Amino acid sequence: MNRNRSVRVCCPAKINKFLRILKKRDDGYHELLTIYQAIDLWDEIRVEEAPDLSLFCDAPGIPTDDSNLVLRAARTLAERTGITDRGARFLLTKNIPAGGGMGGGSSDAAGTLVALNHLWGLGMDRDDLAGIAASIGSDVPFFLYGGTAVGSGRGEIIDPLPFGGEVLLILGSPPFGIDTREVYDKVVSRLTLPMNSVSLSRLLTVKVPGGKDFGAAVNDLEAVVFDGWPQLRAFRDALVGRGARMALMSGSGSSVFGVFNDEQTRSDALRELRSQFGSWGLMRTRTIQEAAHLKSET
Ligand code: C5P
Repeated sequence: MNRNRSVRVCCPAKINKFLRILKKRDDGYHELLTIYQAIDLWDEIRVEEAPDLSLFCDAPGIPTDDSNLVLRAARTLAERTGITDRGARFLLTKNIPAGGGMGGGSSDAAGTLVALNHLWGLGMDRDDLAGIAASIGSDVPFFLYGGTAVGSGRGEIIDPLPFGGEVLLILGSPPFGIDTREVYDKVVSRLTLPMNSVSLSRLLTVKVPGGKDFGAAVNDLEAVVFDGWPQLRAFRDALVGRGARMALMSGSGSSVFGVFNDEQTRSDALRELRSQFGSWGLMRTRTIQEAAHLKSET
């Protein structure tokens, strides 16, 4: 009988309601201002006490070696806290499409930190974990806060915003992912910087007081991706044509979401989009307030 302790963590996906690139930095990253929004789409990880670190995943095509952010998060946490005599066995159930700009790998990394903090009895608070999260990936700290939040720097500096209530979404993922690095490499030559960071901050406070206002929606990575993958532009246009209040690519793509005012319009749109974009993964989802969190312990 297996008496090892285990926990389960739930790891949400995100969309970016707003993403502006301010400049390319000397370290190669891009300085940006974004609004992250957690959505009701989840990966789940069962984490069992074990002598070594190992990862298993139910989805084909997801690497389970050290390139996976789950193992990278576990190794980073162990190094930072001086743990050498403990491991964990991770069983990852994947629902968030990879390469979709929805932060699935980053959310899994945040969930790993939450789980191991508990299982290894580290007693770290969220801000402690966020410092470690930032060294794993730019999007990782957001998933410790969840809900709605401004991200600045390379996306790792998080300022939570009030949650403005549930918003109905359709989320579309084409049958391919897009490599984040490739998109950022292409965008630099196009940077026009129409606003400075001061006016951007003002825009955020004036136009985006809470979670419900998608009015300032813009994504500076969209044009580059839409030129390379025109089906994404076609999907965005189809969402708007079928009644979405607005539609936008998330992060560096490839997923595109539409915001709907009511359930009837969303259902009608989904039916029509399914016949037009048969190879896409299309789902109903909604904005949520939660972060990566522990679900249960055995
Ligand atoms: O931080 P993370 O490892 O998730 O970033 C993946 C890649 O995306 C980076 O290596 C970089 O090429 C690009 N990136 C960037 N500027 C950011 C975030 C990511 O150029 N703010």
